[in-house]
Amino acid sequence: MIQPTTENVYIPKKAVIDRIVDEITDVKTFYWHFKDPKDQADFKKFKPGMFAQLTLFGVGEFVLSLPPSPFEKETFFTCRQVGVCSRALHKMKPGDEFAVRGPFGNGFPMEEYYGRNLVIVAGGIGLIPLRSVIISALAEREKYKSLQIFYGAKSPTELMYVKDLKEWEKAAAECYLTVDRGAEGYKGNVGNVGSLFKLPGVKIPVENTTAFVCGPPIMFRFVLKDLMGLGLQPKNIVSTMERYMKCAVGKCGHCCIGSAYVCVDGPVFTYDQVLRLGEGI
Ligand code: FES
Repeated sequence: MIQPTTENVYIPKKAVIDRIVDEITDVKTFYWHFKDPKDQADFKKFKPGMFAQLTLFGVGEFVLSLPPSPFEKETFFTCRQVGVCSRALHKMKPGDEFAVRGPFGNGFPMEEYYGRNLVIVAGGIGLIPLRSVIISALAEREKYKSLQIFYGAKSPTELMYVKDLKEWEKAAAECYLTVDRGAEGYKGNVGNVGSLFKLPGVKIPVENTTAFVCGPPIMFRFVLKDLMGLGLQPKNIVSTMERYMKCAVGKCGHCCIGSAYVCVDGPVFTYDQVLRLGEGI
């Protein structure tokens, strides 16, 4: 019998849910592990910004970005229920099994940012892929210059990863939060994410800076305008692009944008790459 010499990337590996945490409306975080410890060890080589394909048996396969950092022990997904697969995932319980392919994609090249100022700007669930960047940067804090986090949500109850946010506010980072609509008892900033850039004492460095921006398209456009207005170059602004993925390994063409496959050339792109592809985020 001929033994396969390379691993079949289309075969998902079995995993089991450990615990589930409610984040915000329709968004939950699922902590899980692979059934085979070797699969777990292989998967843990992922970089911030990469993604995985989840298989729910009898339902389908879908893509999720990776919120954990490689510096963390646990693996988890944060998922908003919007379609058939994500709704099925939200119905699952600890102990239930599913399967995972990945990690896939280029990810953020964190080593290239060593010695630079990091400006992280997230809106809503755009914090999911950027959480991995923040945790990784904090784990090697001495390797970067300043670290600023700007995060906005619709309302105080829509702020995600509340435990992390509290820690980031105390950690060696500047962490600024805002909401579109305040609520009783909320004492923080009210306004869009860009309003945080104008707060007294906030100074975004322009030289030697990489800005990470993830969030709804409207937020992205305004933040981009603000950052470029301050003098940041498109090549120093990075984001992740979302596209419908199928194979996730550059074969099926479903995620194609111009000459790029989002699944292998992305999902992380600099803004000047996005402009050359002629595509909006
Ligand atoms: S998902 Fe198949 S080529 Fe990208």
